[in-house]
Amino acid sequence: MPEGWCSILGVRLLSSIKIEEDKGFDRSLRPEKLADYIGQERIKENLKVFIEAARKRDDALDHVLLYGAPGLGKTTLANIIARELGVKVRATSGPAIQRPIDLLVILKNLQEKEVLFIDEIHRLSKVVEEVLYSAMEDFTFDRVISKGATSRAAKIKLPKFTLVGATTRSGAISSPLRDRFGIIFHLHFYEPADLESIVLRSSDILKITVKEDGAAEIASRARGTPRIVNRLLRRVRDFAQVLGDGLIDARIAGEALEKLGVDQMGLDDVDRRILRSLVEKFKGGPVGIETLAATVNEESENIEEVYEPFLLQKGLIMKTPRGRTATAGTYSYFNIDGEEASQQKLFFNRD
Ligand code: ADE
Repeated sequence: MPEGWCSILGVRLLSSIKIEEDKGFDRSLRPEKLADYIGQERIKENLKVFIEAARKRDDALDHVLLYGAPGLGKTTLANIIARELGVKVRATSGPAIQRPIDLLVILKNLQEKEVLFIDEIHRLSKVVEEVLYSAMEDFTFDRVISKGATSRAAKIKLPKFTLVGATTRSGAISSPLRDRFGIIFHLHFYEPADLESIVLRSSDILKITVKEDGAAEIASRARGTPRIVNRLLRRVRDFAQVLGDGLIDARIAGEALEKLGVDQMGLDDVDRRILRSLVEKFKGGPVGIETLAATVNEESENIEEVYEPFLLQKGLIMKTPRGRTATAGTYSYFNIDGEEASQQKLFFNRD
């Protein structure tokens, strides 16, 4: 497929795709085989079985849906799935497929049993989503062909393929779409021990000397996220090279992370602005996400997809039908007595 033509459709071989936040520099650290993938043990074990079974049947793997916060490894897993199946992966994203015809071209160009990776699948338009149903279910594409005043329906046969869909928002996928995935995995935040192993693996690849306590320090502040742990490792390396002899131990890692504004829990400036605003401006809430986003000067989508999942997991924020509220954890994070604060309105509009 000529490169210019396929990029118009938002489709490229994954090896040449440009993904926001990835920008290539993270790619060298991505494991290519299931055996090299650290963490998400249950997903790995199950995937191994499903892949082996599909290979034994000489059949395409069932469609796979991957849920999870940004940076947890959805794209990496999509790549690994294809590699372990011994097929190519083609990658695109929900917003890039604008019309049903775009999807048809993508699907027609797949080979039997290949993997199509659709990132941000929750952002597919309704019309595209609707033609995807029959493509996923019986590998046909329903098309209306208009000729002058008449039109007729045509069923176009497609190669049997595996769709790997990725989304950061479990609630944003419609049930008819979700129901068409035979395999659904929810990627969780990583344990500190797994992140520590990722730091050690990445430092090997990047030829950085990291002591175990240094790896543990970086891992403990990486919000359970491999992409963040790798980013912090690179930044800490800069400090280690400028302030020391390049060696990363707990002391230099701690110092560097403080300078980067990443605290012991892994929270950064934006997290703190969100929590502070909740406590000080909105008396602990509830406050709607749009209002909260406006006061901290961030996109609400960004807060919901990037910041909030970790804050929720740490019990530092709560989601209620009336909006976001602070928790006991939020107050103790700021060393505030929450009960007293709300009674005395100490923090109301204190800016
Ligand atoms: N690099 C980024 N994510 C990884 C993972 N889950 N395992 C190993 N290396 C990684």
